[in-house]
Amino acid sequence: RGNFCIFCILLLLLPSLSHAVSISQTPRDALQKAGSPFEITCEHDSNNDYMFWYRQDQNWSLRLIAYSYGVGFEENEKDFEAGYKVKRHSITLFTLEIERPEERDTAVYFCATSLAPYFGKGTKLTVLEHDLKTPTVKVLPPSPQQICNKATVTLVCVVTNFYPDHVEVNWKFNGVDVGTVGVSTDDRALQAPDGKTYSITSRFLTTKKRWFNTKNTFTCVTKFYNGTRDEFFQGSINGDKVSLMVSLSLSLSLSPSLETVKQDALWAKLSYGILIAKSFFYGLFVFAVVWKLRVSLA
Ligand SMILES: *[C@@H]1O[C@H](CO)[C@@H](O)[C@H](O)[C@H]1NC(C)=O
Ligand SMILES: *[C@@H]1O[C@H](CO)[C@@H](O)[C@H](O)[C@H]1NC(C)=O
Repeated sequence: RGNFCIFCILLLLLPSLSHAVSISQTPRDALQKAGSPFEITCEHDSNNDYMFWYRQDQNWSLRLIAYSYGVGFEENEKDFEAGYKVKRHSITLFTLEIERPEERDTAVYFCATSLAPYFGKGTKLTVLEHDLKTPTVKVLPPSPQQICNKATVTLVCVVTNFYPDHVEVNWKFNGVDVGTVGVSTDDRALQAPDGKTYSITSRFLTTKKRWFNTKNTFTCVTKFYNGTRDEFFQGSINGDKVSLMVSLSLSLSLSPSLETVKQDALWAKLSYGILIAKSFFYGLFVFAVVWKLRVSLA
């Protein structure tokens, strides 16, 4: 009977296992000159007939370019009839070729199937309008206001002056990746007013204790795709010395009030005075006893 149940469970698991389709598309990133053809390939590992190509523009809207419902059956959408060549080579392989990319083809392209997980990870294509520019990375210390008011502080990483916007920002604490804990990065890079470069910011929330230690290093690492490979650019800042103002505000937040600190000091002075007075009178007493003894012996 027990064996029978294990068999049941396996039977229940089987369909969900066969549904775990994986979709991979290459390349992930591409910088392209206007006019030179560009191809993206998409592969999945199921026997699903339906496959799709979508593009996502700067305004986030997702538009269908073309679809296929089997080997040799492809259809382009009306807006994408000219210049977008799709081909279903096999049940698992679907390609998209942009024959003469123009600036308006800068977008993220997604391959999809009609079975979960539906979408590939995307191909970010930039049809270059200017020369490449590598980023400048700077880490800013927490604001003085935050230091006075809160137990946590925020460091800000400002990445500026880069083109195009194929970047990823991460943080390290003393050389170790912090992952996503306490990190928040802008959804996307912002175009500078001149339209030729981008900037992006990222924030890292940490404790005051970590910040007020000059041995600690906070590093912002920016990954930049330069058309052939990822390059890394970084900026760092060290923890700060505990200043008088801060130690005062810290001690204030620890002890009930400044008044008790003053009173404690007063009591300390008083009891020290009493101690000195006590030992003085004790000395006088011993001297008197010795004096009396000598007198009586004589
Ligand atoms: C988004 O941008 C594309 C290309 O610029 C445009 O064709 C489309 O209509 C836009 N969609 C929305 C919802 O604004
Ligand atoms: C991209 O980065 C690699 C490695 O740092 C470098 O060799 C190559 O020249 C760079 N390409 C461009 C276009 O800057």
